[in-house]
Amino acid sequence: MRIDLVTIFPDYFTPLTLSLLGKAIAAGLIEVHVHDLRTFAHDRHNTVDDTPYGGGPGMVMGPQPWGEALDAIAATNKELRPVLVVPTPSGVVFDQRAAQAWTSDPWLVFACGRYEGIDARVAQHYSASADWAGVREVGIGDYVLAGGEVASLVLIEAIARLLPGVVGNEASVTDDSFASGSMAHLLEGPVFTKPQEWRGLTVPEVLLGGHHGQITSWRAEQARLRTAQMRPELAADLASDQHGDHQS
Ligand code: ADE
Repeated sequence: MRIDLVTIFPDYFTPLTLSLLGKAIAAGLIEVHVHDLRTFAHDRHNTVDDTPYGGGPGMVMGPQPWGEALDAIAATNKELRPVLVVPTPSGVVFDQRAAQAWTSDPWLVFACGRYEGIDARVAQHYSASADWAGVREVGIGDYVLAGGEVASLVLIEAIARLLPGVVGNEASVTDDSFASGSMAHLLEGPVFTKPQEWRGLTVPEVLLGGHHGQITSWRAEQARLRTAQMRPELAADLASDQHGDHQS
């Protein structure tokens, strides 16, 4: 997968060189390019923002540097059409299902907005462009960050760890909270490792016996309990799915 990031703070993306993603990049499983939006602004101060039409607080990122940056990126590979990803709190909320679906996109370009956001004509223009495979405006949760950089890191990590070969043990990905399969939409239950007793607290007996059937049912029950406790709305969705109350 190829990933391009356009930002006024390229340094935000140095964590991509660490850990799991760093290894995936080094192994050639993911190709990452970071672009400084200011290099596409042509005035003396490399200005990328201006006051909003209609008034209001804050500044809006102008379409001109964005258009030049995105056109330059798309022109680097004429065989593939990139998807433009615009992280924004006013987008569709990203989830594990989206992360899984996005693993089949060969090329994602992240437009990291700052201030009050990016002039709306940028998303409009690239949605209609034959050189692009679409525009996805996505939020990572119902809160407001200072810009799209951290949100992009979140999206990239969620997607990249699902790419074949990125996580060493494939099962650790399929067992995740929210993963598809028999435990879909359940939260993962508690996990334990050595020592068997720590500060007077012991590991549940069932995990020590090596009886795989019992362990599997215990884990399924723990996942149900945890989901009911932490995310009652997910538990309710699950119950109505099982009763065939609604289709998905
Ligand atoms: N930019 C600012 N807040 C955001 C959020 N919650 N999700 C995605 N992008 C954002």
